Order: sequence, then structure tokens, then C-alpha cells
Amino acid sequence: MFANRTNWDLTPNRLSQALAAHRAAGKPLLDLTVSNPTECGFSYDSKAILGALSNPAALSYEPNPKGLERARRAVAGYYAARNEEVSVEDILLTTSTSEGYSYAFRTLCNPGDEVLIPSPSYPLFDFLAEIQDVKLVRYPLLYDHGWQIDFHALEQAITARTRAVIVVHPNNPTGHFTKPSEMKKLNAICSARQMAIIADEVFLDFALDGNRAASFATNSAVLTFTLSGVSKISGLPQMKAAWLSVSGPQNLKREAVARLEVIADTYLSPNAPVQLAMPAFLEQRHSFQEQLLPRVRGNLAELDRQLARQNACSRLAVEGGWYAVLRVPAIRSDEDLAIQLLTTKGVYVHPGHFYDLPGTGYMVLSLVTPANQFAEGTSRLLENF
Ligand SMILES: Cc1ncc(COP(=O)(O)O)c(C=O)c1O
Repeated sequence: MFANRTNWDLTPNRLSQALAAHRAAGKPLLDLTVSNPTECGFSYDSKAILGALSNPAALSYEPNPKGLERARRAVAGYYAARNEEVSVEDILLTTSTSEGYSYAFRTLCNPGDEVLIPSPSYPLFDFLAEIQDVKLVRYPLLYDHGWQIDFHALEQAITARTRAVIVVHPNNPTGHFTKPSEMKKLNAICSARQMAIIADEVFLDFALDGNRAASFATNSAVLTFTLSGVSKISGLPQMKAAWLSVSGPQNLKREAVARLEVIADTYLSPNAPVQLAMPAFLEQRHSFQEQLLPRVRGNLAELDRQLARQNACSRLAVEGGWYAVLRVPAIRSDEDLAIQLLTTKGVYVHPGHFYDLPGTGYMVLSLVTPANQFAEGTSRLLENF
């Protein structure tokens, strides 16, 4: 009856089962995995956000495959404010970055074609690729004085079927940015083999040192699909407003945009009220980021204070994003450790293997957790060792 691609094992893993039991028993929980910004105690300008959704222009239907020009102008304005020039004609609106990935995969890949993804990274890729019949091949990131791409391994992972390389800039959960020298090497590799770059920049604005990293949206050496949206940039994941921006050599860019337009025209998925509200949603990024960055920096400083008082655990370097990777004694599997922390300390953390980190010795903490909860949860976690 069903397609092989949906033949998933949907049994909840042991940690999810333990979490459900913990919650069902009504036990208190110090959740260090929270990443939903609407539940982290940030204040939002509700008048501006809700007001923007009641634009009378939403009463008429103006189908446009790329999305309403007014919304695309707001996205181009976001890049212009970063001193990066992106044409409204090269931007397509999507309902999420995930949808942007599916458009890019559909544009580039035949069934069974391969896309390179960083390892460690964010766990949604497997499903996104499977649903599009794309095969993922991992390229390792090395941790040596910070994270970096293992270019030797990346080149070895390329086959005749490799269509694209994904970079997450900065990556989740390692928090490292792709360096200008790495962008140059990626361009050389991809242009020599006619491969595209897919750059996920949902955390681009969250550099802990306050310095702006260059976006891939103006990368012109190679066909590049840059994905972002208001989920993280403005802390508004519920609005389902994202975009895909195309850059690269003119002929390839034109061809890619024309093909993407057909895909987008088939679905016309972003709705009118949200598109019309895009300028207001993007405007919200200033006040959101002014609250989020101090939270992340504060929690990281608290983590460092607590780590300084013990010798068992340490953390890896973080340049940006919302997460920290904790190095813990590799005495049992990270899943067993996460279950033990949950059941004995009431602390919920993600095991590293969720993100393709080795299965022992790494845990991932969300740095957007409310400060008191983060301090108490971290303290209970560290007293375990
Ligand atoms: C690296 C990365 N990309 C994309 C997303 C999802 O973005 P969206 O809500 O726009 O699909 C996330 C969500 O956590 C993420 O961590």
C-alpha cells in the first residue's frame, strides 16, 4: 500500500519515552533543549505583529510564483542592511526553510542523486532528503582549534551523482561560521564539478562576537541557493515565512530561477496576510536580536563559570547560533546519560548523537533557555559527574 520512502520506524526512542513518562507523572522538568523562541520569555511587539496581519490588501488574491513583490523587497532590504546586494528577482518566498530545501533538491536532483551534508549538524536533513528521494552523504567537520570543514574528506565523498553541498552558516549545533577561506575552497570544488551550494543561514545574525559574517546570498562563483526566514532571524517560527535566494553565474542563475518558479507556481504556498506582513516581521528582528544575543551570551558565561569550578566537563568553542556542545566523560552512551539526567535530576538535554556527534561524550544545550532555568539545569547536570 505505501511507498518505501515512508517506511519509517516511528517507535519513539527511549529518551522520548522517558520524557513522555516524566511529563505524564507531572514531575518538574528543567528543559535545556528549548529552542522555540516564543516560549523563552522574550517580549514581542504584539500590536505591530498582529496589526501587520490585518492588511486589507489580503482580501484580494494576487498569485505570484516568487511571492508578493512587497515581501521580496523586504527580504532584499534585509540583505541591503547587511551591505549585501540581492535582487528582488532572485528571491522566492517559501513557508519555511524546510520547504526551501525541498525546492532546491527538486531543482537539482534526480531520484538517487547525492547531496553532501555536514556532520555533525541538524537532524532534519534525513527526512527532508528521503521525502525528495535524495541520498545524503556526510562530510565531516573537524574540531581542532574550533570547527572546520575536512576538505580532503569532502572531496572524497563526491561521486558522479553529487549535485550539491549543504553548508549551515553558522552550523547547528556546532555554532561555527564558514570562513571566507572555506567559502573560496567550496567555490573552487563546486565550480570544477558543476555542483551547487545550498547555504542555510537561519542563524546568520547570531554571531556572539557581534561581527557580521558574509552571507552566501551574494556568492557569484557557483550556483548558490541561500535559505533563511523569520523563524530564527525574528523569532517568529509560527508565521511560516521564509525565503530562498539564488545567486551564481548569470546563465545558471537564470535557469535555476525559471525552474524554481515553476515549482513555486505549482504550490503557491505562502499566504497573502503573512506575505504582506513580511516587512513588519523583518522589522521585529532588531528588538528580538537585542534580547536574544544577551541571553545566549549570558548563558554561555554562566556555563563557563560553572565549568570553571569542576574538571570533568568542558565545552567546545561557539562562534554563533543558539547552542553549546558540552564534552562530558564518555563513560556510557549519551542516550543512557540523557535518560539518567532526566530521571534522577529532572534535567532534559539532547544527546550529541541526535546531531551526528559521536554517541558518547557529547551533550547539546540550548543557550536560549531562560537564564534561571539554564543556571539551575546546568548546575544539576554538572553535579552528576
Ligand atoms: C539549521 C536550521 N535550519 C532550518 C531550521 C528550520 O527553519 P524553518 O522553521 O524556517 O523551517 C532550523 C530549525 O531549528 C535549523 O536549526
